[in-house]
This record gives sequence, C-alpha cells and structure tokens, in this order.
Amino acid sequence: MSNINWYPGHMAKSFRELEKHLKLVDIVMILLDSRIPKSSMNPEILKRVKDKPTLILLNKSDLADKKVLSEWETYYKKEGFYTLQIDATDKRSLSKIYPLVRNVILHDKVEKILAKGRQLTPFKTMILGIPNVGKSTLINNLGTRSVAIVENRPGVTRKLNWYRLSDEFELLDTPGVLWPKFDQTTGYNLAITGAIRDDILPLDDVVIYCLEYLSKYYPEQLKMRYRLDSIKDPIRILDHIGKTQGALLPGKEIDYDRVYGIILKDIRQNRLGGLSFERP
Ligand code: G4P
Repeated sequence: MSNINWYPGHMAKSFRELEKHLKLVDIVMILLDSRIPKSSMNPEILKRVKDKPTLILLNKSDLADKKVLSEWETYYKKEGFYTLQIDATDKRSLSKIYPLVRNVILHDKVEKILAKGRQLTPFKTMILGIPNVGKSTLINNLGTRSVAIVENRPGVTRKLNWYRLSDEFELLDTPGVLWPKFDQTTGYNLAITGAIRDDILPLDDVVIYCLEYLSKYYPEQLKMRYRLDSIKDPIRILDHIGKTQGALLPGKEIDYDRVYGIILKDIRQNRLGGLSFERP
C-alpha cells in the first residue's frame, strides 16, 4: 500500500505554501483524531512546524479510550508540544483553548505587548488536519462569528483568506489536502475511523484487522456488544453478527458486506465505548 500515491505534486505544493504561511501566524493548531493520534498526524507537518508555537488538539476525545489517550498526551508533550483533549462538537471543551494559548503558550509574547501598553489583538492561527478530523466543526464552534477580513496586510502580495472568528482568534484559511503517506496499518486505522472512504481499501481486510485488534485490546467490549462467547476467530465473529443481526443473503448465507457496515458503524458511533486504535 505504500505505493499508493496521494497526489504527491499537490502535497509538495501544499507544504511550500504551508511554510510561507507559517510566518504569518502566531500559533499553529494541529488537529488529530484521538483514536489514532499517530495515524492522523502527518509527520511532514511536524517537521515543518518545529520553530512555531504549536498546539496539538486531540479531537474526538469522546470516542477514544481515555487511558490510552492520556498516554498519547504524555508522548506528544515529551516531544515538546502543547496538547489539549477536545470534542469539537462541544463548545465547553473548546473554551480551554484560548486560556492555554494566552496564558501559557504565548505568555511571553502577551507580556511584551501589554508591557508596551498596547492592546491585545486576536491571535493569528491556522488549523491543520487530515480530512474528516473535525476542522470545520472546530472552526464553527471556536468562533462566536466568522467574518472574512478584506484588509491587505503589508508585505503580502497574494490574496490570503483571513477570518475573524472571535476577539480571540483570527484564522488563516489554508488550502490543500495534507495526507500522510501511509503504510498498511495506518491505512487500516484511517479506514476504521472513517478518515478515508470505505471503498479505498478492501473492506474485508480492514474489518478483519479491526476485529483482531479489538479481540486483543478490547475483548470485553467486543463480547458484550455482540454477545459473543468466543472471540478467537474473526470469521466466526462475522458469521455470528450476520446471523444474530439478520445480515443474510437469500438462501441464508451471511451478507458479509452488511456485517462490515454494522461493525464499522457501531465503532464510529461509539457503541462499543471509547476505543483507541494505536498506542504510543
Ligand atoms: P473536516 O472539516 O476536518 O473534514 O471534518 P468535519 O468538521 O466535517 O467533521 C467530520 C465529522 O466528525 C462530522 O460528523 C463531525 O460532526 C464529527 N466530529 C467532529 N469533531 C468531533 C468530536 O470531537 N466528536 C465526535 N463524536 N464527532 C466529531 P458528520 O457530520 O456526521 O460527518 P460524517 O461522520 O458523516 O462524515
């Protein structure tokens, strides 16, 4: 799968733009999926933001295994990043972002501004993340309003789209698909969590991988959800779910495609409880 080519030209261009845009913002926010904090991180981005204050937002924390998620926070903190667990659909969890940015991450900058007797203006930020990780949801819920800024900023020739989200943040709208180049396990993780479309990888491989992973790390949740006695054999699990949930073809054969759909939907809708698909 490493030979799948995710628009390399497009991506190279995105990264060149990213580097130019980095100079224009005070802080970068990288949005990750809390269930897969490595697979949803583009390592290329990490290399490029090294010198910029960066906040890693672990989104969809409501869907993750809390214990594993806190291990990931420790991991990224050790790498020198600030982190925050959020649920972008819940405004309350987003209210922690500004205080962290103002009082901790950009503390020195803020102090300098205030010492000069100047007024604090909204922080300029950009939000990066793979598709479906929750960028639009975050942007909508972070802002009290979203107003396009039409002024020209000195030194910027090409027109950039800035949005005033609130008195706290101005967002630089950054285009570009920032896909990681991924290996097989990363691909499975992206598929399980719905970051890539279900028809990109063979769904039987994805679901078998998923069941093996759940059997290893979340045996009780798996047994409970589907009333399974044994979870040793993924094919038997599929057959059991097909029979008990009536996912059958004419002639009573198991309709595996429907079973795959049932399992993935249950996982994505949190019906097995918080799950993490990788560990630091
Ligand atoms: P994007 O701009 O990065 O592509 O993602 P977007 O905000 O559109 O979010 C993708 C889906 O994820 C949306 O579901 C959104 O509601 C959901 N989502 C975002 N943040 C969170 C979170 O913290 N927790 C949970 N549980 N869900 C979150 P959707 O509209 O149903 O889309 P889809 O799932 O049908 O693609």
